[in-house]
Amino acid sequence: MDALQRLVFFICICFKATQTESSWTADVPSSVEGLLGSCVVIPCSYNYPDIAAHTFTGIWRIDDQVIYHPTESNTMEKYKGRTKLLGDLSKKNCSLMIENLQQSDGGPFFFRIELEGPNKFSYSNNKVSISMIGEPNPTDFFVQEEVKEGQTVSAFCSVSHSCPTYPPSFHWSHSGEQHFQTQNLQNGQWKAASTLTFRSDRTDNNKPLRCRVTYHGGKQREPSKTIKVKYAPVNVKVEYQPDVNEGETAHLKCSSDANPVSSYEWHSETGVLLNKGQTYTMSNVSRHSEAVYCTAVNEEGRVKSSTVQLNVLYAPDIETYSKCSSYNGIVKCDCIVQSRPPSTVHFVLGDRVLPSSKVEKNGSVTTGTLQTDFGSFKFVHCLANNTLGNSNLTLFLPVNDNMQNIFIASGAGVIVLIILIAIGVGVVKKCRGQSDGTPKSDLSTTRSDRPAEPPRYAQTKRKENYEDVHCNDSYGNDSVYGNTETDWDESVYANV
Ligand SMILES: *[C@@H]1O[C@H](CO)[C@@H](O)[C@H](O)[C@H]1NC(C)=O
Ligand SMILES: *[C@@H]1O[C@H](CO)[C@@H](O)[C@H](O)[C@H]1NC(C)=O
Ligand SMILES: *[C@@H]1O[C@H](CO)[C@@H](O)[C@H](O)[C@H]1NC(C)=O
Ligand SMILES: *[C@@H]1O[C@H](CO)[C@@H](O)[C@H](O)[C@H]1NC(C)=O
Ligand SMILES: *[C@@H]1O[C@H](CO)[C@@H](O)[C@H](O)[C@H]1NC(C)=O
Repeated sequence: MDALQRLVFFICICFKATQTESSWTADVPSSVEGLLGSCVVIPCSYNYPDIAAHTFTGIWRIDDQVIYHPTESNTMEKYKGRTKLLGDLSKKNCSLMIENLQQSDGGPFFFRIELEGPNKFSYSNNKVSISMIGEPNPTDFFVQEEVKEGQTVSAFCSVSHSCPTYPPSFHWSHSGEQHFQTQNLQNGQWKAASTLTFRSDRTDNNKPLRCRVTYHGGKQREPSKTIKVKYAPVNVKVEYQPDVNEGETAHLKCSSDANPVSSYEWHSETGVLLNKGQTYTMSNVSRHSEAVYCTAVNEEGRVKSSTVQLNVLYAPDIETYSKCSSYNGIVKCDCIVQSRPPSTVHFVLGDRVLPSSKVEKNGSVTTGTLQTDFGSFKFVHCLANNTLGNSNLTLFLPVNDNMQNIFIASGAGVIVLIILIAIGVGVVKKCRGQSDGTPKSDLSTTRSDRPAEPPRYAQTKRKENYEDVHCNDSYGNDSVYGNTETDWDESVYANV
């Protein structure tokens, strides 16, 4: 009997003990970190005996002072408006938020629940204090610091905090896709993280990527990291002085924007490798010098500049195929000049200096044309000059109509002609054998140092004129004069 009583008693004790222990309990961390000026949420859960509770009054206290009461007037002045019960008491959640944390908010605090009737309990054995920090915790910041242009950059920024109601906000210095994540650590600590992804661009190179974290209450942190973006050369260009005198030296320099920096190669337009290095020296440039380009090279690519053609300047050269010609009785002289810059073309007829009646310019070719009354002149000088020098050439005129008119007009002309024909027939016969091999060029020209004087040599024959003609092919001095025998000549004679 005694034994049975003892057993019952023991069971009763046991039951009561387990019941009380599992009933009035609370779970709070002993300490929560709080950022001054920000807010903190104290996670809290509690338990009470198995009572059918309908009304819940949750109170937070420090010693015998109330820091939170659902009736605000019961809350001590210092905490009025700053504390808020976040937890749902009916779900045994007693989490408390304190805003605008002050240095003196350290606690320790404990929770008290008041249910119906006498069922009230202060969990003064489960105290929580707030350890105040003046500045936010360091930020974790990761980003791939070296990328190739076009690659995706992922940056990750995370901080710990203790106010999940108002978590820190993230602001990135670069646009891109953002993801926000939050994670519950322990003891009221949370982790907030933002991930940014974007496509790298060369303009991002050497620029700091910043992650600005703003905590509730306004405190900020802004870690940053500089990103290096590798990219193939861009803006590859040749710097040079385009105008260069023939025979002089041109210095060309290539530049580009690239990461890592470019090395350079020089090629001629036809693809011959000329030089390696950022500069290229072209010595003794000529009007025929080939165009060149440079290639900027780095590990990301090879990029060509546009082709560079120097503007080689040179004194005029009068083309030897410049000539005077007659068409429908109108005589004109074309003086064709090669030069850079284009030349001024003048003509000297006797002692008169005449400007070109027409000038055509096409690239390095200047064609000056003179059309005037040439009188009885047999030649005209063409003078060409530009900033680099001058040149001259003697152009022979075709026989002029005036000559014929004089002959025809004068009565003596007929007699003279008859005599000439007579002589001519004899001479031509004599000449035939000698002159057959000579070239019957339209008109030939000769350079002269003295444009005002007729040249002593290189008089040449012209088929349809009365010009003096050499019978021999040696261009010597022992000329025999005569008229040439042509169809044109014969028709003139017929008129006479
Ligand atoms: C208690 O309430 C807080 C605030 O609403 C909430 O964040 C937390 O998850 C709740 N705790 C539990 C255990 O449900
Ligand atoms: C320059 O080039 C010309 C031909 O283009 C040549 O005749 C001359 O000798 C060269 N001069 C030098 C100094 O190389
Ligand atoms: C200019 O010269 C080039 C060749 O040197 C020729 O192809 C072009 O037709 C010329 N233009 C004119 C307007 O004469
Ligand atoms: C070329 O010569 C003419 C006449 O002598 C002169 O007026 C002109 O200025 C010269 N032009 C150049 C470019 O030297
Ligand atoms: C014609 O050219 C020669 C050189 O070829 C030069 O000596 C002479 O002075 C020039 N004459 C004129 C009128 O410019």
